[in-house]
Amino acid sequence: MLCTADQIRNYLKSTLSVKRFLHCENVASTMSFLFDEFGPPTRGAESYEGMGVAEVVGLMHDAAREYSDERIMQYVSEHRILMPEEFSRVPVLAHGFVAHGMMQEMIGDVPSSWLSALDWHTTGSVTMGYVGMVLFVADFIEPGRRFLDDAQRKRYLSKGDLNIAASAILDDMIAHWQSKGIVPSSSSVELQRFLHDGNRIEKDR
Ligand SMILES: [Fe+2]
Repeated sequence: MLCTADQIRNYLKSTLSVKRFLHCENVASTMSFLFDEFGPPTRGAESYEGMGVAEVVGLMHDAAREYSDERIMQYVSEHRILMPEEFSRVPVLAHGFVAHGMMQEMIGDVPSSWLSALDWHTTGSVTMGYVGMVLFVADFIEPGRRFLDDAQRKRYLSKGDLNIAASAILDDMIAHWQSKGIVPSSSSVELQRFLHDGNRIEKDR
């Protein structure tokens, strides 16, 4: 079934909690703001069948976030999804890979950068691409996030550089996980090292 943006919105509204649905709407609008601030993705990744990248990727990113571990792993095995072994041990990490499959089923042959953005939005990855970096940052700073105040949101963006914002957010996420005794995933650690070494995620990736 190929859906319109309105149909996607209605589907998510009927399958997600109110709080999660609002989060998805907020991520979509924050992605739109970030694309305005830092530039759109490469041509061809801006829209698909008239639907904009921010709206569709933002809305869909948590489509499977409320699935049980069993449902996530069932989807992964039925759809033969390839993902890191550590994601199988912590299935909630894989909800982006499931959203990737759902996006293909619901919308069709979307740009590949949209799919890698969904795959890696929870952990971050050196392969998440520019759309993925925008999603990663928007997911963390959207206005419904209670753990941040507006001053902190502004601080992340204050250098006018999305790579610097993503790096600072990732540092704070990893420090938070470690304070709770959670070992960060290897894709998060690899991305942290990549950004600390001065490498950048550019628009054409
Ligand atoms: Fe999210």
